[in-house]
Amino acid sequence: MKQKLIQALTANYDTREATSIADYYADAMQGRELTDIESDTLKLLDGYPVQYVTNTSFFYGHKLYVDEHTLIPRPETEELVHWVVSDNKDADAEILDIGTGSGCLLLSILHKLKNAKGIGLDVDPQVQNAFDKNVDILNVEAQFLSLDFLDKEAWASLPSYDIIVSNPPYISKEEVERLGPGVFKHEPHLALFTDDDPLIFYKMTLEFAETHLKQGGCIYFETSDLYHEEMEGMVSKYNYKHEFKKDMQGAWRMLKLWSQ
Ligand SMILES: C[S@@+](CC[C@H](N)C(=O)[O-])C[C@H]1O[C@@H](n2cnc3c(N)ncnc32)[C@H](O)[C@@H]1O
Repeated sequence: MKQKLIQALTANYDTREATSIADYYADAMQGRELTDIESDTLKLLDGYPVQYVTNTSFFYGHKLYVDEHTLIPRPETEELVHWVVSDNKDADAEILDIGTGSGCLLLSILHKLKNAKGIGLDVDPQVQNAFDKNVDILNVEAQFLSLDFLDKEAWASLPSYDIIVSNPPYISKEEVERLGPGVFKHEPHLALFTDDDPLIFYKMTLEFAETHLKQGGCIYFETSDLYHEEMEGMVSKYNYKHEFKKDMQGAWRMLKLWSQ
């Protein structure tokens, strides 16, 4: 099957990329019936991401469910999971994930922190299907909440948390060219873009934390290397201690904040 798929994909991809897509497809479909291979091949030839074709994302050692309503989880988000897990071993924490999508970040954390539980909130109710499937796959205690986090009035319905995590949308419309064409064409724009201010979710989260982060609590963000200086300027205006971290590529991609 794999050789045939590689051969078909070389019509539109070089051999290396065709092989990598076919490898991913074969791994993702292992143990499943290959009833749609012809239509899948056409989608792959058309540039549709193999993660959506197979409804699969390999993330932090898990085989999670994704679909076209959810962002495809990225490797740097695994590094953020690792940071949260390393810092909070054995914590019986209540965790809030702002912009949860597939739940990959929150649910992978909960899978490691056996005494913790969490809420994944997202403005798009269509991501709940993937979130719920991943709750079952990882067998963790988590709930989904559909809520527009940028609507401050909605905050009143939320309690306080020990840990807040977030990989929010942080791409401005001017940055479209920096994205690969596949990302812009196929991934949900709601997950990628902010309207005007790329830091809006960070600012709103820090404001939210003033009333909704428990004493001794922590906030963990995925960040954009492109806005690192602006982020440094922004966090210094709030009353938190903080630490930025680089990812394995050497780019500033993570931020932790905690009370003074
Ligand atoms: C960058 S994606 C992150 C998804 C997932 N947490 C991950 O790390 O792969 C951002 C998520 O924020 C959600 N989102 C966008 N605007 C929102 C808002 N106003 N309130 C809550 N969630 C929002 C999107 O639907 C999307 O699922």
